[in-house]
Amino acid sequence: MQERGVPAKKLWRELREASEDDLHFRDGRILGSMCTEPLPIARLAHTMFLEANLGNPGYYKGTWRLERETLRILADLLHGKNLGGFTVSGATEGNITALWMARNTTRRKEIVAAKTAHFSVQKAADLLGMRLVEIPHDDEYRLDIDALRKAMTRDTAAVVAVAGTTELGQVDPIDAIGETCLDQAFLHVDAAFGGFVLPFLDKAKVPRWDFRIPGVSSLVLDAHKMGMATIPASHLLVREAKHFEGIAVESPYLTSVYQTSLLGTRNSAGVAAAYAAMRSLGRDGYRKIVAKCMKNTALIVDRAREAGIEPVVEPVMNIAAFPVRDIEGVQRALEKRGWRVSTSRTPPALRVVVMPHISAKAAAAFAEDLVAACRKLGT
Ligand SMILES: Cc1ncc(COP(=O)(O)O)c(C=O)c1O
Repeated sequence: MQERGVPAKKLWRELREASEDDLHFRDGRILGSMCTEPLPIARLAHTMFLEANLGNPGYYKGTWRLERETLRILADLLHGKNLGGFTVSGATEGNITALWMARNTTRRKEIVAAKTAHFSVQKAADLLGMRLVEIPHDDEYRLDIDALRKAMTRDTAAVVAVAGTTELGQVDPIDAIGETCLDQAFLHVDAAFGGFVLPFLDKAKVPRWDFRIPGVSSLVLDAHKMGMATIPASHLLVREAKHFEGIAVESPYLTSVYQTSLLGTRNSAGVAAAYAAMRSLGRDGYRKIVAKCMKNTALIVDRAREAGIEPVVEPVMNIAAFPVRDIEGVQRALEKRGWRVSTSRTPPALRVVVMPHISAKAAAAFAEDLVAACRKLGT
């Protein structure tokens, strides 16, 4: 560290230069991220609550109220009653916390999840000294229910089901999984991505996936993905708040008696941002955003299909994957045209996430470049 402070002007230049080297959602070229440009009101809320710390809630009664209200809004959206919960930094923390609770309340050591579950479940198993039993997926890359029934043992603490898989946006058969888990194991639903998409799709097309299913014990959803809030903002909701007792630790020097969060000092700007996004948009606002993303996803899939490029599965959400022959080649060709896309492993494919920062015009231009790259490199 230098001895004297750097003048603000110079420092500002340094910061601006660093920011200029970053990619920005506002440029409308990123189709490889599950995050997006937050709503302006969420951005404002974030800066207003920068110094709040919900790790010490007695000092931050206003922020604490916002957190409770946010959880109430989400419980209503997810058909839950008297749920426990709190804001977490992301679904990784949410998944770890849920599995920690499951381990301590059941006193068992196994987690069962499909191979298509997010890698944060592997982190959780490792950190918690639990055994992860990975089971196959069905033809549509959703958890295979027969494999789950066979894999569950008396040592199964928890099952992780996904509502919106990272690679394809698929929804596991949560109704059937819930039936299998009821009174047998803790069922955690990872709705990191799908949590702010599924409630706003055409209800007739969406199978049950939330707290309407009696077997669902906990659920995580990220407001910093399709929730339009700032990073980090995610929510862990638990059907029975008593589950938190299993992970409670005394917090002697703070204004709370116990802490049940993995983190001590706890992000609170994200709490305010999530609250602001939800209050500002309402169901109607989210419905419009999701409809736009789905329309643009369909546009890309239709154009690709016309050129003979079939998606791995018909997209349920605003994620499409194309199993083209030269995945990295196409990815590089698109990057040269200014687009950022990612890849999936199961199955190997070019993965496109069509977030709210992608306009219809950008989606059409992207589809054209995708088709051209595939034609050049062979589909
Ligand atoms: C299904 C799923 N679960 C968990 C995560 C991890 O979320 P985070 O990066 O917010 O910790 C992701 C991230 O993409 C995800 O798609």
